[in-house]
Amino acid sequence: MTHPIIIDTDPGQDDAVAIMMALASPELEVLGITAVAGNVPLALTELNARKICELAGKPDVKVFAGAIRPILCNLVTAEHVHGKTGLDGPILPEPKMQLQKQHAVDFIVDTLMERPAGTVTLCTLGPLTNIALALIKEPRISSRIKRIVAMGGGFFEGGNITPAAEFNIYVDPHAARLVLDAGIPFTLIPLDCTHQALTTKARVEKFRTMKNNSGPAVALMMDFFERFDVEKYGTDGGPLHDPCVIAWLLRPELFTSRDVNVVVECESQLTMGMTIVDWWRVTDRKPNATVCRGINSDGFFDLLTERLAKLA
Ligand code: RIB
Ligand code: CA
Repeated sequence: MTHPIIIDTDPGQDDAVAIMMALASPELEVLGITAVAGNVPLALTELNARKICELAGKPDVKVFAGAIRPILCNLVTAEHVHGKTGLDGPILPEPKMQLQKQHAVDFIVDTLMERPAGTVTLCTLGPLTNIALALIKEPRISSRIKRIVAMGGGFFEGGNITPAAEFNIYVDPHAARLVLDAGIPFTLIPLDCTHQALTTKARVEKFRTMKNNSGPAVALMMDFFERFDVEKYGTDGGPLHDPCVIAWLLRPELFTSRDVNVVVECESQLTMGMTIVDWWRVTDRKPNATVCRGINSDGFFDLLTERLAKLA
């Protein structure tokens, strides 16, 4: 019995690896990939999503374009991390596969309304704008989503785009607050967890020496993507954020977590987009998320390497 998922994403090299990992996993049925503005503008995130599907040898996957900007905030992008294409590293050919005509938000709503309730998981790798818009357009989907598994936020680890906020939440804090308040089963994979999943040289070499196209292309993506974080954190490799979402779906035992309350700061300019995680349960705010803090990073990379090796 495969697990149907929708991947909402702003590729982004780490998004690319997450998408490829999902496409290589027979346990998962990728119903569609919905692009959102984030790391780079929407025109590039949807293009990159299609390039990634073709790189993985899966040109039949449906890719949809969604929100071109956050709900209220002006769009903030991250070319300084991901390069001007958003997928700097390998030279990937222009995709032959077409972008779907349907808007991503309509695809999300229609899929959730047509499929049996409680069967589809939303895997979010970028700002939550598309998910928030879908909830506003059709509130009934909130009881039909099996779970949202989101890369985003940070608590003891702080922020990466401001001292207080992680990028995905910071770009659209109002969307994140709306989604977290919707009462949907929610798993949050924050920087506290993803900063332990480092693309060390030894791990990237396993990608580089794979006997397919996908592995070496991922290695080139990592070579580019990690340079910013290696400089910033002084670590051997950069944090591979988004594939942690797929790994949690496949092998949740690789992670440790607690069910706690998470609130998103939407007022203060100083801490806009900060995720206030009540890890020690010092308030009476109701738990609304399963927040991951620990990861077995060797187990994670073993799983990722095994899956990427299956691709074209
Ligand atoms: O903060 C890391 C997150 O922001 C990742 O999803 C990365 O792709 C960017 O979207
Ligand atoms: Ca992302």
